[in-house]
This record gives sequence, structure tokens and C-alpha cells, in this order.
Amino acid sequence: MDASHVENDLVNVLFTEAQIQQRLGELADEIERDYEGKDLLIVGILRGAVMVMADLARSFDRHVEMDWMAVSSYGSGSKSSGVVRILKDLDSDISGRHVVIVDEIIDTGLTLSWLTSNLSSRQPASVEICTLLRKPEALAMPVDVKYVGWDIPNEFVVGYGLDYAEKYRNLRDIGTLAPHVYS
Ligand code: PRP
Repeated sequence: MDASHVENDLVNVLFTEAQIQQRLGELADEIERDYEGKDLLIVGILRGAVMVMADLARSFDRHVEMDWMAVSSYGSGSKSSGVVRILKDLDSDISGRHVVIVDEIIDTGLTLSWLTSNLSSRQPASVEICTLLRKPEALAMPVDVKYVGWDIPNEFVVGYGLDYAEKYRNLRDIGTLAPHVYS
């Protein structure tokens, strides 16, 4: 669905489907240049990164292998606990391989910070992060991110994989959720 189907739930459309595709194409070009002649594995973090992975991977003009992880970000505690649990691990052995972790958003940075150090301990050739969105004001933990689509304000955004109560993930655009929806 597109934003017109949920316009009463959104304050605004931050990025349209066309803008997202254009930016992912630019990121794919950048990654392709950086990994020219090298084997590359991209790792999507379920579930939000499904859309980014699908479109980023198809923007490459080269082969790229895809794998997936699922993590529960914070157990039952608060966001700041930093507890991350692996629900689904990689199917691949990444030792000696170049890995790019792909996610749709970095909020506090806790998930990606933990994941980077977890994957780095498996002796890969390299580990980098690609995220479509990042909220610099929400960062609680420094995370070294090589590829960023856009930095955005610390607002509740949905669409293109980002949910509120499991809704809006299939929205083609990314929008700011209206407070009346979640308050
Ligand atoms: C989102 C996103 C990141 C994480 C970022 O996943 O995909 O993995 O939160 O937040 P952080 O920077 O504060 O750690 P979420 O836990 O919402 O799960 P989902 O992908 O299944 O929606």
C-alpha cells in the first residue's frame, strides 16, 4: 500500500518509494565499488530489513549472497538494557568473508553495536553496517556505520519494513506516525 491508504495516520511522508529506491541504488553503487573483486555476504536483520535487503540486493550489478539473523532486541526489559538474544543465527560460516549487515533503522544503536561485535568475533575478513535510516539524537551507543541512507529526527517513523504494532511494514513509503495512533 502507499501513503494515501493511511494518510490519516501519518503526519507526513518523509521518503517516497521513488526516493527510497534512488537512495538504495546509490548505496548499492558505493558498496559495489568498495567490494570490487571481493566476495560479499549481506546479512539482513529480521524482520524490518526485509524490504531494504530485497531492493538493495536487486540494485547490485553483481552477485551478492544473502543471509539472515533474527534477534530479540531487549528481552522484556527496557530499551536501555542492551540485552540482545539471537533467535535465528546465520546459516553461513563467515570466517574469512566480507560481511555487510543490513538494517532499516538504527535507533539507540544497541542492536547493531552488539551484532557487530558478535559477528566480528567469528573471524570474518571485515564487517560493516548499512542502514537506510539513522536517528543521531537517539544514539545511546557509538556505532561505526559505513553506509547510511538518511539521518532523521527522533520521531516515530513507519513504513518500508518499519512497524507500529506489526502494522505499516508493507507501506511503500516512509512516514512519521501521528501521535493519535500510538498515544
Ligand atoms: C529495529 C531495527 C533494528 C533495531 C534498532 O528492530 O530493525 O534492528 O530496532 O534499534 P536500536 O538501534 O535501538 O537497537 P526491531 O527490534 O523493531 O524488530 P523488527 O525488525 O522485527 O521490527
